Amino acid sequence: MGAFCRVMKETTATITFESTSPDETRRLGRVLGSVAKPGDVFALIGTLGAGKTELVKGVASGLGVADEGGVNSPTFVLVNEYDGRLHVYHVDAYRLGGTTELKAIGFEEICQSGGLVVIEWADRVGSLIPSRALWTAIEVTGDRTRRMVLTGPFDDVKRIESALSISAE
Ligand SMILES: Nc1ncnc2c1ncn2[C@@H]1O[C@H](COP(=O)(O)OP(=O)(O)OP(=O)(O)O)[C@@H](O)[C@H]1O
Ligand SMILES: [Mg+2]
Repeated sequence: MGAFCRVMKETTATITFESTSPDETRRLGRVLGSVAKPGDVFALIGTLGAGKTELVKGVASGLGVADEGGVNSPTFVLVNEYDGRLHVYHVDAYRLGGTTELKAIGFEEICQSGGLVVIEWADRVGSLIPSRALWTAIEVTGDRTRRMVLTGPFDDVKRIESALSISAE
């Protein structure tokens, strides 16, 4: 019983990151990109202008994507793709109708492709987000300050935590 409770408790973990500038948000993104594994899904939540795309720019840079300036919210194309250590699919659920349209663009298939899927406004299509996803909720706390709460599989979050402490040294 004791062991069972411990396993239940340790399946997910959460870390909170306070960002004081777009640069700092990109730094967190770079750490996320550097630890990303094939098949990972980063699900981002936050209002318009919260900093989701800033974070994705950092993720791309952490994966060695050459043209970080090419990272923008997907608008005319529904999925942006970047090539780095992993192939990145950058989806924006705000510009999509909902789960039906997300399915139609092949979201479930790209989640199985062995690349990295990053999806803005993931809460709008929560039922399609795989349970292994790392969720990042960005809250605007001031002009240049953002609180980011990362929740996901225990081992993934612990790996991010140690990479963050190394990058802060
Ligand atoms: N600490 C911060 N972290 C991230 N962005 C910040 C921060 N402080 C200010 N900003 C500004 O907030 C804006 C974030 O824009 P961004 O496009 O990343 O938002 P978004 O969440 O992707 O919005 P959308 O839902 O419209 O796609 C940028 O103009 C950025 O300069
Ligand atoms: Mg965006």
